[in-house]
Amino acid sequence: MQKVCNIIPFFLSRLSGIAPRREIRNWAYLSIEKIIGLNRSDTILKSNMILSSQIVLKLNDIVNELSNNQPIQYILSEVEFYGIKLKVNKNVLIPRPETEELVDWLLKDDFQSVLDIGTGSGCIAIALALNSNAIINAMDISKHALMVAQKNSINNRVKINFQNQDILKLNKLPKYDIIVSNPPYVLESYKSKISKKILDFEPHNALFVSDNNPLLFYTKIAKLAIKSLNNNGKLYFEINQLFAAEIFDFMHELGFVDIELKKDINGKKRMIRGTKN
Ligand SMILES: C[S@@+](CC[C@H](N)C(=O)[O-])C[C@H]1O[C@@H](n2cnc3c(N)ncnc32)[C@H](O)[C@@H]1O
Repeated sequence: MQKVCNIIPFFLSRLSGIAPRREIRNWAYLSIEKIIGLNRSDTILKSNMILSSQIVLKLNDIVNELSNNQPIQYILSEVEFYGIKLKVNKNVLIPRPETEELVDWLLKDDFQSVLDIGTGSGCIAIALALNSNAIINAMDISKHALMVAQKNSINNRVKINFQNQDILKLNKLPKYDIIVSNPPYVLESYKSKISKKILDFEPHNALFVSDNNPLLFYTKIAKLAIKSLNNNGKLYFEINQLFAAEIFDFMHELGFVDIELKKDINGKKRMIRGTKN
């Protein structure tokens, strides 16, 4: 590997079989951008640029980590979410595209104050802070996740009030216009069906809930929200589509009105919102 034009063939030959070719190409472009600073069109325009031995070494390391199933976002310590650059490490979940859809839905609302429960990298809170004038609060049980979220808020020049709290231990919350959460919702029994990429690298406390009480976070948060939301305030959740009907029903029983389930781009019921009367 001597020149820029050799990088993509190098990734494709070393990683063939690990992922579809389109995905491997994408990893190569992301790596080129991060390590050499060339975007996709520059990669073509500067295809004859000679690579230093240091850059070759770094690209080699990336390919080795990718071949061990490590997600590219953790290798490059970076992800793009809702057009925003965020740092990520193994203490935070890699933000997913369906969460961008949740943010997009939420931003159609009018609100002055928000609480994001289980903020992780801070992706939801930061996207809301950058696209509204509301006061944004965000909570997580993990101090390490909050360090990442704090750093991301500084890098994106937004002010967010972070709190290190276990939502399951709280009996009440202050008043908010919006409470939003993408809590852990993958069943423990699902571990055997999940790819090694997720299982070996992403934080389990961000992903899994016990099969005995899969809606633990949803019921707790909804009960707190119906008491603490301002009138006409809304609760938004990202959900596991398997539990859409159940979550709808208990939100209804708790007194939420105008409850709406929303499908993601793949036609799956992955979001819900309800209004406090
Ligand atoms: C599915 S991740 C969501 C992260 C981020 N909001 C996103 O959408 O990418 C769930 C988050 O909830 C946090 N969490 C887990 N248990 C919690 C608890 N008892 N109280 C507060 N946060 C909790 C985890 O640390 C993790 O950051």
